[in-house]
Amino acid sequence: ENNIAIAIDGPAAAGKSTVAKIIAEKLSYIYIDTGAMYRALTLKALNEGINMEDKDAIVGLLMNTEINLKQSFDGQMVLLDGLDVTKEIRYQDVTTRVSYVAKHAPVRTEMVKRQQEMAKNRGVVMDGRDIGTHVLPNAEVKIFLVATVVERAKRRYEENVKKGIASNIEILKNEIEERDRIDSNREASPLIKASDAIEVDTTSLSIIQVAERILDEVAKVK
Ligand code: C5P
Repeated sequence: ENNIAIAIDGPAAAGKSTVAKIIAEKLSYIYIDTGAMYRALTLKALNEGINMEDKDAIVGLLMNTEINLKQSFDGQMVLLDGLDVTKEIRYQDVTTRVSYVAKHAPVRTEMVKRQQEMAKNRGVVMDGRDIGTHVLPNAEVKIFLVATVVERAKRRYEENVKKGIASNIEILKNEIEERDRIDSNREASPLIKASDAIEVDTTSLSIIQVAERILDEVAKVK
């Protein structure tokens, strides 16, 4: 029974965090949502009126920013300089800007350093875009989750309905496509499947089926 690292990458709204939480709970591992860290930095830049394209300003901001991910009863709580921003980081104005913050190479270097520190004791499920390729290149299990953009927009829409948030499926689809485009085309650690990652197309799978598929891979190496 050894503690391993599980890396889950993939495009926006592919269900990464939902399955990562289930897997972490099943294994009593910690769950680390790296996207939440980029979102927290974006929220702070927005609050301080900093231009997302201003690389030096964004890096300087990060160096003076504390981001903590705390395990809570329903997954994860995000603390930005000690304040709970779990809800705010999901707002639309953060979502449409986060990819511009995440494309700066020195921002990524610092984030990767912090994420590696968080994962150093293994027993971790981490989700993001560059976990299998850069953050945890030695992860014992690497998963790349994909689904059609129509399916991803539909899931996000239904999630919003449940939360009582009004949204439009066409707008969601455009936002997801735009984020994927920026994330996949940036120079620094773009969104790409690691050569040793297992690709799982979740388009016609349930959450439970995806979790079971990943747990099968975990059982092979644990
Ligand atoms: O996972 P989530 O959709 O919350 O991520 C928000 C954004 O953060 C992504 O669209 C991407 O720009 C950035 N990100 C990243 N690398 C990660 C995780 C997220 O660049 N490991």
